[in-house]
Amino acid sequence: MTMPFADSNHDALWLPFTANRQFRDSPRMLVSAKGMYYRDDKGREVLDGCAGLWCVNAGHSQPRIVEAVQKTVATLDFAPAFQMGHPLAFEAADRVARLAPNPLNHVFFCNSGSEAGDTALKIAIAYHRLRGEGTRTRLIGRERAYHGVGFGGISVGGISGNRKLYGSLLTGVDHLPHTLDLRRNAFSRGLPEHGAELADDLERIVALHDASNIAAVIVEPLAGSTGVLPAPKGYLKRLREICTKHGIVLIFDEVITGFGRLGASFAAEKYGVVPDIMTVAKGITNGTIPMGANIVSDEIFEAFMQGPREAIDLPHGYTYSAHPIACAAAIATLDTYAEEHLFERAAALTPYFEEAAHSLKGAPHVVDIRNEGLVAGIELAPRQSKTTRAYEVFERAFNEGLLLRYTGDILAISPPLIIEKNEIDRIFETIGRILKSID
Ligand SMILES: Cc1ncc(COP(=O)(O)O)c(C=O)c1O
Repeated sequence: MTMPFADSNHDALWLPFTANRQFRDSPRMLVSAKGMYYRDDKGREVLDGCAGLWCVNAGHSQPRIVEAVQKTVATLDFAPAFQMGHPLAFEAADRVARLAPNPLNHVFFCNSGSEAGDTALKIAIAYHRLRGEGTRTRLIGRERAYHGVGFGGISVGGISGNRKLYGSLLTGVDHLPHTLDLRRNAFSRGLPEHGAELADDLERIVALHDASNIAAVIVEPLAGSTGVLPAPKGYLKRLREICTKHGIVLIFDEVITGFGRLGASFAAEKYGVVPDIMTVAKGITNGTIPMGANIVSDEIFEAFMQGPREAIDLPHGYTYSAHPIACAAAIATLDTYAEEHLFERAAALTPYFEEAAHSLKGAPHVVDIRNEGLVAGIELAPRQSKTTRAYEVFERAFNEGLLLRYTGDILAISPPLIIEKNEIDRIFETIGRILKSID
């Protein structure tokens, strides 16, 4: 039996992205999970409205994944990743590459979305240098972007709260404008109509610095953590065209959008826009074991394979790159997605989910509702108070047995893809009821 919260030393654990002292006043403790539900330390069932942290796409404790992890930990607990291989690593890479669109055929494993982001930026800069274009070092991110918490990720990221404490960050970084436009796009269903032209800002940055100094552009196809901003129609295609025209590496951060969240394997597939590098994590193992990856184009990979055969081609990697247990979890996860047709299921459920989300239009405090695939964001009017309305909804919902995410004034809903329609109803009914009861 685990120790009750009241009996443990609360100061030993420093929770990430958490108001730790506020948390200790009213702790939320999860002790088990199965399917669509957590159970908390008071024995209450908690409906998972956000797939843990946008990652448990197949639902919790999937037997196939549990079994693969258990078997592997007892068979090959660890294998060094440098100058050594193991069969699960090759199989997992092959499976991931096969799921990704052509020509993204090469997989470099790491352990998180943050590591995947920093790895992608390093690969892009090194790629240009290996091709004799070593002046291409500038990196372009986007306002409101989230690419994890490494120095690379926060430098190209655009959430000021995640950057302001940490000094000068990487130099040589520019940001595209974010794509949220409540005036023109509020209450859009799916991709917003207006804003493709915001991609043209890349031309302004190219005019300022010259393409010969620019290595890469990184964007989330749907910005998740900042509060669910689907890309405007045509935006990603325009960005692709401008990157191609100027020889700039295009990186899609598919850490949230990958593995079925939008009703397709990847956003790149759904929108028919293929980047040069894709970063993934989260759903790659259904959240069971930490894992991230870069999925890299043939052209970029080949550029690294030109030097002497005995030379290390990419001086980069992690002790736990392609960890055997993570690889086993990834293979079992991809099997589960395929056998249970979960990406198709997400696509089929999208209209129902969209309708349910937009039923909150007109509810108190709601200034926008955004959705795409099985993701929705509900933006609330700000108020003069120490805690945002979204936090209050999050806290009350948890006390009513529903787990949500919130960021600032925005609620984010991204359930496991196994969700049933009555559970979708429950999520939005609960939010609607709580909204009526707060000031
Ligand atoms: C788009 C995106 N990129 C990167 C990350 C960072 O992933 P991790 O927390 O695994 O480092 C996240 C996490 O939410 C994310 O949403």
